Amino acid sequence: MAILEVLHFPDPHLRTKAKPVKQVDNAIRQLVDDMFETVYKAPAIGLAATQVNVHKQIVVIDLSEEQNQPLCFINPKIMSSGGVQTVEEGCLSIPGIFEKIERPEHIIVEALNYKGESFTLKTDGLLAVCIQHEVDHLVGKLFVDYLSSLKRQRIRKKLFKQKKR
Ligand code: NI
Repeated sequence: MAILEVLHFPDPHLRTKAKPVKQVDNAIRQLVDDMFETVYKAPAIGLAATQVNVHKQIVVIDLSEEQNQPLCFINPKIMSSGGVQTVEEGCLSIPGIFEKIERPEHIIVEALNYKGESFTLKTDGLLAVCIQHEVDHLVGKLFVDYLSSLKRQRIRKKLFKQKKR
C-alpha cells in the first residue's frame, strides 16, 4: 500500500478526462487500495483517480467516521438524478476551501465494484453529493467550477499564497 500524491488546483492535469477501466485486475485493485489509504490518511471522504494523476474512471468513497465502509466505483455512470440540495463541499485538491454547492438530491449510479461486478446504487443526501463530486473529477470538473469566476479567482489566489508559505 502507498500514500499517493494528490494534485492541487489549478494543476491542468485535474482537467484530464479519465478513460474507462477495461478490466478490473490486480493492478486496478492495488490502485484502489492505495487510493483508500490516501483518503483515510488525509482524512477525507472521497477521492477520484484523476486527483492522483491516474486518468482511469475510478472513485473511492467512505463516509463513515470509523473508516470501515469503503465504497469503490469503477466506470461509474449517473443514470438519473432529481431534486435539489445544497451542501458545503471541500476537496483534497482544493485544500482549506469549503463552499456551498447546489446539486441534485438523489441519484441512481451504475458502476463496477472491487471485484469487477456491476452494481446499481440508488442513494441521496451526502453520499449522492459525494458521488457526483467524484464523478465530476473524472471528466475534469471541480466544485469551484460551479462558483462565479470572481470567486474562483479569489480561491486561486488564496491557494497560491498558501503554497508560498
Ligand atoms: Ni474533490
